[in-house]
Amino acid sequence: MFSILKPLPTDPILGLMAAYRQDTNPNKIDLGVGVYKDELGNTPVLKAVKKAEAFRLENETSKSYIGLAGDLGFCSKIEQQLLGEHRALLANRVRTAQAPGGTGALRVAAEFIVRCNPNATVWVTTPTWANHISLFEAAGLTVKEYPYYDYENKGLLFDEMVETLKQVPKGDIVLLHACCHNPSGMDLNLEQWEIVADIAADVGFTPLVDIAYQGFGTGLDDDAAGLRLLADKVDELIICSSCSKNFGLYRERIGACSIISDTSAVADIANSVLLSVVRSIYSMPPAHGAAIVDTILGSNELTALWHEELAEMRDRINGLRSLIVDALNTETDQDFSFIKHQHGMFSFLGINKEQIERLQKEFGIYIVGSSRVNVAGISKANIDYFSKAVAEVLK
Ligand code: LMR
Repeated sequence: MFSILKPLPTDPILGLMAAYRQDTNPNKIDLGVGVYKDELGNTPVLKAVKKAEAFRLENETSKSYIGLAGDLGFCSKIEQQLLGEHRALLANRVRTAQAPGGTGALRVAAEFIVRCNPNATVWVTTPTWANHISLFEAAGLTVKEYPYYDYENKGLLFDEMVETLKQVPKGDIVLLHACCHNPSGMDLNLEQWEIVADIAADVGFTPLVDIAYQGFGTGLDDDAAGLRLLADKVDELIICSSCSKNFGLYRERIGACSIISDTSAVADIANSVLLSVVRSIYSMPPAHGAAIVDTILGSNELTALWHEELAEMRDRINGLRSLIVDALNTETDQDFSFIKHQHGMFSFLGINKEQIERLQKEFGIYIVGSSRVNVAGISKANIDYFSKAVAEVLK
């Protein structure tokens, strides 16, 4: 049976990570996968996480199953982090299932959408995270794209986006990146969120908000402001969140799928479907990552420490954005100032395939084939090498 299978290409992001690990170039730089790195190029375990783990080690009393929705303390704390004091929470209209990472949350959401409307189309930004499209298609959903990033002017195609969203049929799903758009770093401002929210309410599509980088843009609340605004205007919303980046818990696979319904009674029904989806995929989520987040967010002291560490990561990335712009504007004859106005880990360099390949082969600099760079992979030690290499391939 297996002999009929055809080999598939490696994943565009994870394949790059494997190739980087094998490269013996002592100057190599990994600007591929979206993982935060410190000035030394390491991705250390956050201090708040270490403390929470130490606490759990002493205090965990059982390894028995935790249930379909996962750790309920985690779920309610994540809802608050996403929505603040939003009236949907106060009205008990939100239900959350802990999921194995942001990707797990998206897959649960995809299967939940299939149960609601198997004929729904999921609309995603052009471009979007490489895995979004295959993930929804794997669940049997149709995926279409709406204009988003303006490659030419390095901004947003907002008017085109609005025109397309107005044509989205009622019952379809529109995926929006809450902040730190992956891969472009280009975010909607609040005025634009307001317009999108009004269209969603008018047209009747259901927004699915992917929030994988809360706290990496301008702050935990600011990064959720667009999401909260949407929740003001529409009755139903799906939110897929991740603790991979903001808690640095990548390999623990911890995220959540939250559903907002128009009434608490509908929320209960939606929740029963959500939990049945979970049961049929992986039965129950793993406990460790949720326990860490629950412990941190349940302690004022650990929350304050985590906020400090998160701010440190965010500030470093924003500082690097300026450093990159200065270096590239000095070394090349192009203007890279747009990188300063984008948010989160990623921006496009806007160079072509051949130039990207040369960066990898000749300089050991790994960036995704779309020209997406992980800004956090830059440091004071490698910025010179990086900017000179980019200048060289641009010649
Ligand atoms: C990325 O976009 O690099 C990250 O979200 C990691 C991944 O799974 O692709």
